Order: sequence, then structure tokens, then C-alpha cells
Amino acid sequence: MAKTIGVTRRLPPEGLELLRSSGATVILNEEDRPLSPEELRSMAARCDGMIVQLVDRVDATLLDAGKNLKVVANYAVGVDNIDRAAAAARGVVVTNTPDVLTLATAELAWALLLGAARRVAEGDRLTREGRFRGWAPLLHLGVGVSGKTLGIVGAGRIGAAVARIGAGFGMTVLYHARSPHPEIEREARAARVDLPRLLAESDFVSLHVPLTAETRHLIGEKELSSMKPTAVLVNTARGPVVDEEALVRALKQKKIFAAGLDVFEKEPQLAPGLAELPNVLLAPHAGSATVETRAGMSVLAARNVLAVLEGRPALTPVGI
Ligand code: GLV
Ligand code: GLV
Repeated sequence: MAKTIGVTRRLPPEGLELLRSSGATVILNEEDRPLSPEELRSMAARCDGMIVQLVDRVDATLLDAGKNLKVVANYAVGVDNIDRAAAAARGVVVTNTPDVLTLATAELAWALLLGAARRVAEGDRLTREGRFRGWAPLLHLGVGVSGKTLGIVGAGRIGAAVARIGAGFGMTVLYHARSPHPEIEREARAARVDLPRLLAESDFVSLHVPLTAETRHLIGEKELSSMKPTAVLVNTARGPVVDEEALVRALKQKKIFAAGLDVFEKEPQLAPGLAELPNVLLAPHAGSATVETRAGMSVLAARNVLAVLEGRPALTPVGI
């Protein structure tokens, strides 16, 4: 296939091998640093298809530079970095990487949930710094998880997977979503409630909504104030879903017990004061970061690009 495919960062080799074995020319950003908008445009101008990252902004300007561009495969499930209407208007297919990352992301949400509840990172620091002076009845108390109430905001694949694991911990599961999701109700015996009730009743709140105009700052001052003082907030979705400055204040004032965050409002920058708080557990946007999952994502992204360039339907296209 005499096509040119741009890849904006180094990827696990499985996907790149698929692209190369199709006969396509692959332009790879070997330097493995984020490309500037100008560099992205100049890559787009040479390509029939691209695999892009969630930090690459795909807007009308980039799409216009890509005169031959037929497909943009996001190496992520979230597609808030892509102007889908502009792509559709230009006949460019947009794809993402659902399913292959569901369990990895759910596992990281649980790592943050358990880690924040039991103060795992704080305990590690205390122990390695020689501040552990022996067992004591009141040393390093966290909050328990089993049998508590888990609130899932957004009942897509990842939210449902987090809910199923919660059911395994004997938790009562509540969820908030625009429409009923029979699967999460069946698999986790979850009850659909409105957001105020979910926030008021949950001991653990885990966010799994995409970033849209409606979900930006879904969790702000008022929402954090309505949570239990013993509650833990987990965000593995997108940073701007939470008003991060309001969260810093809530954690400082102990309005909630703790938070576990994999994503940040101005990633990779952190809101002032966040990193100084003991009751927050931080991760570097690593929800899908397992060897297996990242390999699966590279294969899926490559298959999506090849399908479109070979005139077949994309495997996992994203609508507007
Ligand atoms: C990661 O955040 C993703 O959307 O895949
Ligand atoms: C992501 O794929 C989700 O639906 O949660």
C-alpha cells in the first residue's frame, strides 16, 4: 500500500509492525517528545493516516493541513483532544481505543482508591524516611473499604468494571449516568441515582465520564462540600472534570478524607498546593499504562488506520 502514516510518539512495536507490514511508509516521531502544533501540521500534510496522542490537539487547522488525511486514530479512549465535528465535515474518520484499556484503567482506579483509603504512599514515605518507630494503636489510620458505598459517576465500560470490582468487596454500588445501564445494575447490583444523592451517600466516588462541556467542573466546591468528611474521590477520567483548586481547598479543610488522582486539570501541571497535601495520592496519567494494554492499544490503533486506508470500515470509530 503506497500510503504514508504518521505516528506522533514512539509506540509498543506491535502496532508499528502491522503498519509497516502493510507496505505503508511510516513517519515516526523517533525523538519521542510532544510535537508542536506546527510539527503536527507538517506531519499531517504528508500523511494519509495518523496515530495521535491525547496530548495532540487535532483541530480544523491541523485537519486542513492534512489534504490527503483520511483517518486519525487516537491512541486513547477519550477523544476530547479532537474536534470531531471538524473531522466529520472534512470526511476524516476518527477512531479511539476502547475495550483494550478498560480493565487496566479500572485496576488503576482501584489502586488509587485503596491507596488513598489506606494511605499507602504516605506510609511508604514515613517508613522509608525512618519515621516508623514501632507499632502503635493509633498509628496511620485509614478508612475501610469492604461493605461501604461506592459511587460511580459515568457508567461506561470503565465505570462498570470499577463497579464489578466494588461488588467483589461487598460494596453497595450507586451510579450516576444520563440513561439506565442494565449491565452495571445486573453485574454490580448498582442503583441509578442523581448526582447529589450519589455524592451525599457514597464513601468512595470514582469518576468515569468523558470530558465534555457538560462534565467540565462537574465536581466543584459545592459538590465536594456535599460529600462525607470520610469520603475518598478518585479521578482516572479527565482532569478538568474536577475543579482542582476547589479540591485542594476541600482536602486542606478536610471536607473529604482523601483523593486519588491520575489526571489533572492543567496536565502535567498541578494546582498550587496539591503536591504538598498528605491526603492525596497522585499518578502520572497512567490508567492504561500496562505492557499488555499499551501493546493492545497500538494494534487497535494500527488496525483502525489500515482499515480506513484499505477502504474498510474502522473497527472502533468515534461519532461526533
Ligand atoms: C487515557 O486517558 C485515555 O483516554 O485512553
Ligand atoms: C470507556 O471506554 C468507557 O466507556 O468507560
